[in-house]
Amino acid sequence: MTTADSLIATLADLRQRALERLSLATTADLLEAWRIAFIARKGELPGLRERLPSVSKEEMPRVGQAFNATKQVLEQAYEARKVGLGGAALEAGIAGEAIDISLPGRAPLTGYAHPVKETLREIIRIFGSMGFSVAEGPEAETDRNNFELLNIPADHPSRDTMDTFYLDVPGGILLRTHTSPVQARVMLSQEPPVRIIAPGRCYRRDQEDASHLSYFWQCEGLAVDRYVTFSDLKGVLASFASQILGCKVRFRPHHFQFTEPSAEFDFSCLVCGGKGCRVCKYEGWLEISGAGMVHPQVLRNVGYDPTAVSGFAFGMGPERVTMMRYGINDMRLLNANDLRFLRQFA
Ligand code: PHE
Repeated sequence: MTTADSLIATLADLRQRALERLSLATTADLLEAWRIAFIARKGELPGLRERLPSVSKEEMPRVGQAFNATKQVLEQAYEARKVGLGGAALEAGIAGEAIDISLPGRAPLTGYAHPVKETLREIIRIFGSMGFSVAEGPEAETDRNNFELLNIPADHPSRDTMDTFYLDVPGGILLRTHTSPVQARVMLSQEPPVRIIAPGRCYRRDQEDASHLSYFWQCEGLAVDRYVTFSDLKGVLASFASQILGCKVRFRPHHFQFTEPSAEFDFSCLVCGGKGCRVCKYEGWLEISGAGMVHPQVLRNVGYDPTAVSGFAFGMGPERVTMMRYGINDMRLLNANDLRFLRQFA
Protein backbone atom coordinates (compact mmCIF):
# COMPACT_ATOMS: atom_id res chain seq x y z
CA MET A 1 0.00 0.00 0.00
CA THR A 2 1.32 3.42 -0.88
CA THR A 3 1.47 6.11 1.75
CA ALA A 4 -1.39 7.77 -0.06
CA ASP A 5 -3.64 4.72 0.06
CA SER A 6 -2.89 4.17 3.70
CA LEU A 7 -3.65 7.79 4.53
CA ILE A 8 -6.92 7.68 2.60
CA ALA A 9 -7.92 4.52 4.45
CA THR A 10 -7.07 6.19 7.77
CA LEU A 11 -9.21 9.16 6.82
CA ALA A 12 -12.16 6.87 6.00
CA ASP A 13 -11.77 5.11 9.31
CA LEU A 14 -11.50 8.36 11.20
CA ARG A 15 -14.60 9.64 9.50
CA GLN A 16 -16.62 6.61 10.47
CA ARG A 17 -15.48 6.60 14.10
CA ALA A 18 -16.03 10.31 14.42
CA LEU A 19 -19.56 10.15 13.08
CA GLU A 20 -20.43 7.27 15.39
CA ARG A 21 -19.09 9.13 18.40
CA LEU A 22 -20.95 12.27 17.34
CA SER A 23 -24.28 10.47 17.46
CA LEU A 24 -23.54 9.76 21.13
CA ALA A 25 -22.83 13.40 21.96
CA THR A 26 -26.17 14.22 23.57
CA THR A 27 -25.12 17.24 25.64
CA ALA A 28 -23.28 20.44 24.93
CA ASP A 29 -20.35 19.21 27.05
CA LEU A 30 -20.04 15.94 25.13
CA LEU A 31 -20.27 17.80 21.86
CA GLU A 32 -17.44 20.11 22.90
CA ALA A 33 -15.31 17.11 23.91
CA TRP A 34 -15.96 15.60 20.50
CA ARG A 35 -14.90 18.80 18.75
CA ILE A 36 -11.64 18.90 20.70
CA ALA A 37 -10.94 15.23 20.01
CA PHE A 38 -11.58 15.30 16.28
CA ILE A 39 -11.66 18.61 14.52
CA ALA A 40 -10.10 21.23 16.82
CA ARG A 41 -6.56 22.37 16.08
CA LYS A 42 -4.95 19.57 18.09
CA GLY A 43 -7.59 16.96 17.20
CA GLU A 44 -7.16 13.77 15.22
CA LEU A 45 -8.02 15.16 11.81
CA PRO A 46 -5.59 18.11 11.77
CA GLY A 47 -3.05 15.69 13.32
CA LEU A 48 -3.08 13.64 10.11
CA ARG A 49 -1.63 16.61 8.24
CA GLU A 50 1.73 15.70 9.72
CA ARG A 51 1.79 12.71 7.39
CA LEU A 52 1.19 14.73 4.21
CA PRO A 53 4.86 15.49 3.46
CA SER A 54 5.51 11.77 2.93
CA VAL A 55 2.92 11.64 0.12
CA SER A 56 4.39 11.74 -3.39
CA LYS A 57 3.76 14.74 -5.56
CA GLU A 58 1.60 12.79 -8.04
CA GLU A 59 -0.66 11.41 -5.35
CA MET A 60 -1.03 14.66 -3.43
CA PRO A 61 -4.19 15.88 -5.24
CA ARG A 62 -6.05 12.64 -4.41
CA VAL A 63 -5.02 12.74 -0.76
CA GLY A 64 -5.73 16.44 -0.48
CA GLN A 65 -9.20 15.89 -1.84
CA ALA A 66 -9.92 13.06 0.60
CA PHE A 67 -8.61 15.19 3.45
CA ASN A 68 -10.78 18.16 2.55
CA ALA A 69 -13.86 16.01 1.99
CA THR A 70 -13.48 14.41 5.43
CA LYS A 71 -12.95 17.77 7.04
CA GLN A 72 -16.06 19.16 5.40
CA VAL A 73 -18.22 16.17 6.36
CA LEU A 74 -17.13 16.32 10.01
CA GLU A 75 -17.53 20.08 10.31
CA GLN A 76 -20.99 20.00 8.78
CA ALA A 77 -22.02 17.10 11.00
CA TYR A 78 -20.74 19.03 13.99
CA GLU A 79 -22.77 22.19 13.08
CA ALA A 80 -25.92 20.15 12.47
CA ARG A 81 -25.51 18.42 15.82
CA LYS A 82 -25.04 21.75 17.56
CA VAL A 83 -28.29 23.11 16.14
CA GLY A 84 -30.07 19.87 16.99
CA LEU A 85 -28.86 20.00 20.59
CA GLY A 86 -30.04 23.61 20.93
CA GLY A 87 -33.54 22.59 19.88
CA ALA A 88 -33.47 19.57 22.15
CA ALA A 89 -32.35 21.71 25.09
CA LEU A 90 -35.23 24.08 24.45
CA GLU A 91 -37.70 21.24 24.35
CA ALA A 92 -36.29 19.75 27.53
CA GLY A 93 -36.56 23.18 29.17
CA ILE A 94 -40.19 23.58 28.16
CA ALA A 95 -41.05 20.10 29.36
CA GLY A 96 -39.29 20.87 32.67
CA GLU A 97 -41.19 24.10 33.22
CA ALA A 98 -44.56 22.47 32.66
CA ILE A 99 -46.39 25.56 31.45
CA ASP A 100 -50.09 24.93 31.02
CA ILE A 101 -50.89 27.12 28.05
CA SER A 102 -54.58 26.37 28.40
CA LEU A 103 -54.81 28.36 31.67
CA PRO A 104 -56.41 31.80 31.32
CA GLY A 105 -53.88 34.67 31.34
CA ARG A 106 -53.51 37.22 34.11
CA ALA A 107 -55.56 40.32 33.42
CA PRO A 108 -53.28 43.36 33.19
CA LEU A 109 -53.93 46.11 35.75
CA THR A 110 -55.53 49.04 34.01
CA GLY A 111 -55.43 52.51 35.51
CA TYR A 112 -58.34 54.88 35.90
CA ALA A 113 -58.66 58.56 36.57
CA HIS A 114 -58.97 60.05 40.04
CA PRO A 115 -62.57 61.27 40.52
CA VAL A 116 -61.42 64.91 40.59
CA LYS A 117 -59.57 64.39 37.32
CA GLU A 118 -62.66 62.75 35.88
CA THR A 119 -64.69 65.80 36.89
CA LEU A 120 -62.08 68.12 35.39
CA ARG A 121 -62.30 66.28 32.10
CA GLU A 122 -66.04 66.81 32.11
CA ILE A 123 -65.61 70.51 33.03
CA ILE A 124 -63.15 70.94 30.16
CA ARG A 125 -65.47 69.13 27.77
CA ILE A 126 -68.48 71.28 28.66
CA PHE A 127 -66.65 74.62 28.49
CA GLY A 128 -64.90 73.40 25.36
CA SER A 129 -68.32 73.00 23.75
CA MET A 130 -69.01 76.65 24.63
CA GLY A 131 -65.82 77.80 22.91
CA PHE A 132 -63.41 77.98 25.89
CA SER A 133 -59.91 76.63 25.41
CA VAL A 134 -57.62 75.41 28.18
CA ALA A 135 -54.80 77.64 29.48
CA GLU A 136 -52.24 76.65 32.06
CA GLY A 137 -49.77 78.39 34.33
CA PRO A 138 -47.17 77.41 36.92
CA GLU A 139 -48.08 76.51 40.50
CA ALA A 140 -45.13 78.54 41.78
CA GLU A 141 -46.05 82.11 40.89
CA THR A 142 -44.79 85.64 41.31
CA ASP A 143 -46.46 87.98 43.77
CA ARG A 144 -47.18 90.22 40.80
CA ASN A 145 -49.26 87.64 38.92
CA ASN A 146 -50.95 86.14 41.95
CA PHE A 147 -51.78 89.46 43.66
CA GLU A 148 -50.57 92.74 42.22
CA LEU A 149 -51.96 92.49 38.69
CA LEU A 150 -55.23 91.26 40.17
CA ASN A 151 -55.57 94.52 42.09
CA ILE A 152 -54.51 93.05 45.44
CA PRO A 153 -51.72 95.35 46.72
CA ALA A 154 -49.27 94.17 49.37
CA ASP A 155 -51.11 95.75 52.30
CA HIS A 156 -54.62 94.78 51.25
CA PRO A 157 -56.63 92.85 53.88
CA SER A 158 -58.00 90.42 51.29
CA ARG A 159 -54.54 88.84 51.26
CA ASP A 160 -55.29 87.55 54.75
CA THR A 161 -57.70 84.96 53.38
CA MET A 162 -55.06 83.84 50.92
CA ASP A 163 -52.03 83.25 53.09
CA THR A 164 -49.79 80.79 51.34
CA PHE A 165 -46.40 79.14 51.19
CA TYR A 166 -43.44 81.29 50.16
CA LEU A 167 -40.39 79.86 48.43
CA ASP A 168 -37.06 81.14 49.65
CA VAL A 169 -35.70 82.29 46.29
CA PRO A 170 -34.59 85.72 45.06
CA GLY A 171 -37.53 87.69 43.72
CA GLY A 172 -40.01 85.99 46.04
CA ILE A 173 -41.95 83.12 44.54
CA LEU A 174 -45.08 81.81 46.22
CA LEU A 175 -47.39 78.87 45.70
CA ARG A 176 -50.39 80.34 43.91
CA THR A 177 -53.51 80.74 46.03
CA HIS A 178 -55.90 80.59 43.08
CA THR A 179 -55.82 80.02 39.33
CA SER A 180 -56.61 83.70 38.69
CA PRO A 181 -52.94 84.50 37.91
CA VAL A 182 -53.47 82.53 34.70
CA GLN A 183 -55.95 85.29 33.73
CA ALA A 184 -53.12 87.79 34.03
CA ARG A 185 -50.70 85.60 32.08
CA VAL A 186 -53.14 85.02 29.24
CA MET A 187 -54.19 88.68 28.94
CA LEU A 188 -50.58 89.84 29.03
CA SER A 189 -49.75 87.49 26.18
CA GLN A 190 -52.65 88.10 23.82
CA GLU A 191 -55.16 90.68 22.63
CA PRO A 192 -58.93 90.23 23.11
CA PRO A 193 -61.05 88.27 22.39
CA VAL A 194 -60.08 85.85 25.17
CA ARG A 195 -62.10 82.80 26.13
CA ILE A 196 -60.21 80.37 28.37
CA ILE A 197 -60.57 78.11 31.33
CA ALA A 198 -57.56 77.41 33.53
CA PRO A 199 -57.67 74.24 35.61
CA GLY A 200 -54.86 73.75 38.11
CA ARG A 201 -53.63 73.10 41.62
CA CYS A 202 -53.62 75.85 44.26
CA TYR A 203 -52.33 76.22 47.81
CA ARG A 204 -53.41 78.06 50.94
CA ARG A 205 -52.36 77.99 54.54
CA ASP A 206 -55.83 76.81 55.52
CA GLN A 207 -56.97 74.52 58.27
CA GLU A 208 -58.26 71.39 56.53
CA ASP A 209 -61.80 70.24 57.27
CA ALA A 210 -64.62 68.44 55.47
CA SER A 211 -64.89 71.22 52.88
CA HIS A 212 -61.41 72.85 52.86
CA LEU A 213 -57.97 71.62 51.82
CA SER A 214 -54.62 73.41 51.84
CA TYR A 215 -53.80 71.85 48.47
CA PHE A 216 -56.71 71.87 46.07
CA TRP A 217 -57.92 72.34 42.50
CA GLN A 218 -59.49 75.39 40.96
CA CYS A 219 -60.76 76.00 37.51
CA GLU A 220 -60.73 79.61 36.43
CA GLY A 221 -62.79 80.91 33.55
CA LEU A 222 -62.26 84.15 31.65
CA ALA A 223 -63.98 85.77 28.68
CA VAL A 224 -62.97 89.22 27.41
CA ASP A 225 -64.40 90.80 24.30
CA ARG A 226 -66.49 93.74 23.20
CA TYR A 227 -69.90 93.90 24.94
CA VAL A 228 -69.42 91.00 27.36
CA THR A 229 -72.00 91.38 30.13
CA PHE A 230 -72.98 89.91 33.48
CA SER A 231 -75.86 88.09 31.82
CA ASP A 232 -73.33 86.27 29.61
CA LEU A 233 -71.66 85.11 32.82
CA LYS A 234 -74.98 83.94 34.27
CA GLY A 235 -75.91 82.17 31.06
CA VAL A 236 -72.58 80.35 30.82
CA LEU A 237 -72.64 79.21 34.45
CA ALA A 238 -76.33 78.21 34.31
CA SER A 239 -75.64 76.12 31.23
CA PHE A 240 -72.61 74.56 32.90
CA ALA A 241 -74.59 73.71 36.07
CA SER A 242 -77.36 72.03 34.15
CA GLN A 243 -74.91 70.08 31.98
CA ILE A 244 -72.59 68.81 34.68
CA LEU A 245 -75.07 68.08 37.47
CA GLY A 246 -78.50 68.94 36.19
CA CYS A 247 -78.88 71.64 38.83
CA LYS A 248 -79.62 75.37 39.09
CA VAL A 249 -77.30 78.30 39.99
CA ARG A 250 -77.82 81.27 42.24
CA PHE A 251 -75.63 84.33 42.68
CA ARG A 252 -75.01 86.18 45.95
CA PRO A 253 -73.31 89.59 46.10
CA HIS A 254 -69.70 89.36 47.26
CA HIS A 255 -66.39 91.18 47.02
CA PHE A 256 -63.28 90.30 45.05
CA GLN A 257 -60.54 92.80 44.31
CA PHE A 258 -60.27 91.76 40.68
CA THR A 259 -63.97 91.75 39.73
CA GLU A 260 -66.65 94.45 39.93
CA PRO A 261 -69.44 93.67 40.49
CA SER A 262 -68.58 90.39 42.21
CA ALA A 263 -70.65 87.44 43.29
CA GLU A 264 -70.36 84.06 44.84
CA PHE A 265 -72.36 81.36 43.16
CA ASP A 266 -74.03 78.25 44.51
CA PHE A 267 -75.48 75.16 42.90
CA SER A 268 -78.82 73.81 44.08
CA CYS A 269 -78.32 70.83 46.39
CA LEU A 270 -78.74 67.57 44.54
CA VAL A 271 -79.19 65.48 47.64
CA CYS A 272 -82.46 67.14 48.70
CA GLY A 273 -83.36 68.79 45.42
CA GLY A 274 -83.13 72.22 47.08
CA LYS A 275 -85.49 71.54 50.00
CA GLY A 276 -82.71 71.59 52.60
CA CYS A 277 -80.78 68.72 54.17
CA ARG A 278 -77.68 68.01 56.23
CA VAL A 279 -75.34 68.08 53.25
CA CYS A 280 -76.37 71.64 52.29
CA LYS A 281 -76.74 72.63 55.94
CA TYR A 282 -80.49 73.09 55.34
CA GLU A 283 -79.82 75.86 52.84
CA GLY A 284 -80.82 73.99 49.67
CA TRP A 285 -77.67 75.42 48.01
CA LEU A 286 -73.98 74.52 47.99
CA GLU A 287 -71.27 77.12 47.50
CA ILE A 288 -69.12 76.52 44.40
CA SER A 289 -66.97 79.64 44.15
CA GLY A 290 -66.67 83.25 42.98
CA ALA A 291 -67.34 85.19 39.82
CA GLY A 292 -67.80 88.71 38.50
CA MET A 293 -67.00 91.23 35.80
CA VAL A 294 -63.27 91.76 35.33
CA HIS A 295 -62.30 94.94 37.24
CA PRO A 296 -61.36 97.82 34.92
CA GLN A 297 -58.10 98.24 36.86
CA VAL A 298 -57.17 94.63 36.06
CA LEU A 299 -57.86 95.26 32.37
CA ARG A 300 -55.64 98.36 32.53
CA ASN A 301 -52.92 96.42 34.39
CA VAL A 302 -52.58 94.01 31.48
CA GLY A 303 -52.73 96.74 28.84
CA TYR A 304 -56.38 96.34 27.77
CA ASP A 305 -58.68 99.33 27.30
CA PRO A 306 -61.65 99.04 29.70
CA THR A 307 -63.69 101.46 27.58
CA ALA A 308 -63.33 99.18 24.55
CA VAL A 309 -63.63 95.69 26.05
CA SER A 310 -65.24 94.06 29.05
CA GLY A 311 -65.06 90.59 30.48
CA PHE A 312 -66.29 88.15 33.08
CA ALA A 313 -64.31 85.76 35.23
CA PHE A 314 -65.24 82.93 37.50
CA GLY A 315 -63.46 80.36 39.57
CA MET A 316 -64.78 77.07 40.80
CA GLY A 317 -63.69 74.26 43.06
CA PRO A 318 -63.56 70.98 41.14
CA GLU A 319 -63.43 69.07 44.45
CA ARG A 320 -66.79 70.56 45.41
CA VAL A 321 -68.28 69.64 42.07
CA THR A 322 -66.83 66.13 42.47
CA MET A 323 -68.37 65.78 45.93
CA MET A 324 -71.76 66.70 44.50
CA ARG A 325 -71.39 64.39 41.51
CA TYR A 326 -70.57 61.35 43.59
CA GLY A 327 -72.22 62.18 46.92
CA ILE A 328 -68.90 62.42 48.82
CA ASN A 329 -69.26 64.03 52.24
CA ASP A 330 -65.64 64.80 53.19
CA MET A 331 -63.24 66.64 50.89
CA ARG A 332 -60.19 65.21 52.64
CA LEU A 333 -60.99 61.84 51.09
CA LEU A 334 -60.09 63.33 47.72
CA ASN A 335 -56.53 64.18 48.78
CA ALA A 336 -55.84 61.11 50.88
CA ASN A 337 -54.88 58.85 47.97
CA ASP A 338 -56.39 55.93 49.82
CA LEU A 339 -57.00 53.14 47.33
CA ARG A 340 -59.77 51.63 49.45
CA PHE A 341 -61.72 54.80 48.72
CA LEU A 342 -60.49 55.46 45.17
CA ARG A 343 -61.19 51.95 43.86
CA GLN A 344 -64.90 52.71 43.93
CA PHE A 345 -64.32 54.97 40.95
CA ALA A 346 -62.53 52.40 38.80
N1 PHE B 1 -59.92 83.54 42.59
C1 PHE B 1 -61.08 83.61 43.45
C2 PHE B 1 -60.82 82.80 44.70
O1 PHE B 1 -59.97 81.96 44.69
C3 PHE B 1 -62.32 83.12 42.77
C4 PHE B 1 -62.72 83.99 41.63
C5 PHE B 1 -62.27 83.75 40.36
C6 PHE B 1 -63.56 85.08 41.84
C7 PHE B 1 -62.64 84.58 39.32
C8 PHE B 1 -63.94 85.88 40.83
C9 PHE B 1 -63.49 85.60 39.55
O2 PHE B 1 -61.45 82.98 45.70
